[in-house]
Amino acid sequence: MSKIRAAITSVHAFLPDYALTNSEIEKMVDTNDEWILSRTGIKERRILKGEGLASSDMGAEAVKGLCAKRGISPSEIDMVICATATPDMLFPATANIICDKIGAVNAFGYDLMAACSGFLYALVTGSKFIETGTYKKVVIVGADKMSSIVDYTDRAVSIIFGDGSGAVLLEPNEEGNGVMDSILRSDGVGRNFLYQKAGGSQYPATHATVDAKEHYIYQEGQTVFKFAVTKMADVSAEIMERNQLVADDIAWLVPHQANKRIIDATAKRTGISSDKVMVNIEKYGNTTNGTIPICLWEWEKKLKKGDNLILAAFGGGFTWGSVYLKWAY
Ligand SMILES: CC(C)(COP(=O)(O)OP(=O)(O)OC[C@H]1O[C@@H](n2cnc3c(N)ncnc32)[C@H](O)[C@@H]1OP(=O)(O)O)[C@@H](O)C(=O)NCCC(=O)NCCS
Repeated sequence: MSKIRAAITSVHAFLPDYALTNSEIEKMVDTNDEWILSRTGIKERRILKGEGLASSDMGAEAVKGLCAKRGISPSEIDMVICATATPDMLFPATANIICDKIGAVNAFGYDLMAACSGFLYALVTGSKFIETGTYKKVVIVGADKMSSIVDYTDRAVSIIFGDGSGAVLLEPNEEGNGVMDSILRSDGVGRNFLYQKAGGSQYPATHATVDAKEHYIYQEGQTVFKFAVTKMADVSAEIMERNQLVADDIAWLVPHQANKRIIDATAKRTGISSDKVMVNIEKYGNTTNGTIPICLWEWEKKLKKGDNLILAAFGGGFTWGSVYLKWAY
């Protein structure tokens, strides 16, 4: 009997309407369009506006769209894993809230937190439930309202992040398509360079933590950059090597969108030419867990059954990884 693989059978995304442009950021902090564009590749990012709207609202939209495209009812979903760094609340899980908002009444769900690598970690985790025959329809959703933890007076952080979500449906495939291989890594040393200090069990929220702006993202950009640029490139090259893949075998590189220079370094290291690299960072910035499924959604029409894709991510923690995927439709 052929091996059951977990294949992506539908993809959808949601991006809020409001675009925060570089020129608007110029009015908030001491920066300029030319600097932002040349150092990051970002022109604008989307921001979710509206009282009480949260990551789950964007996640729910992505999952609803994915079900409509596949022609299934949310009640057919077995399981939802939500990768997020900005859960609606610390608990319950944002996945539970998404299930409730879309009517996934037969699904159970939980959140997975691995910063910007969360979507890849969740994709690999979810694929195991398909490969083992446990479930038939597993949804992986990456959803982040990064604007809720960005200090718009900090020029090192505010230029980078944006809001958005993307989701994929995993189903069993016996034609040899789907998740073929994965490498996931982490190193806790990274907690010193990219974090949201307060609001957890170590530093619960107090007036002092609010006054010290400790509920916002703290990032040592240069250190994060140095790790990201080598780790994401290395892990992409490693997964290609161990699957005997050369650049010509790859239809698309799907990198996490954190900085155009990190993406370029990964493409260079793997030898994959720039016309085969999904890049939309200029429009959305870094949407954290949203970047990879948003790319897949934007490029969906260009993807062909059997295409070899290399997905790669790097994030806080540090966390990083790559997935080798054969597109199934
Ligand atoms: C944040 C980042 C864009 C900063 O770019 P950089 O080239 O490393 O810039 P540096 O921090 O070395 O700063 C260089 C100079 O630009 C200045 N600068 C920093 N941010 C600036 C901004 N938004 N506008 C203008 N100048 C800025 C610095 O103050 C510094 O000035 P100085 O030389 O006078 O001291 C970059 O480090 C980065 O992308 N890091 C990785 C971020 C990331 O991937 N995060 C998510 C992980 S998933």
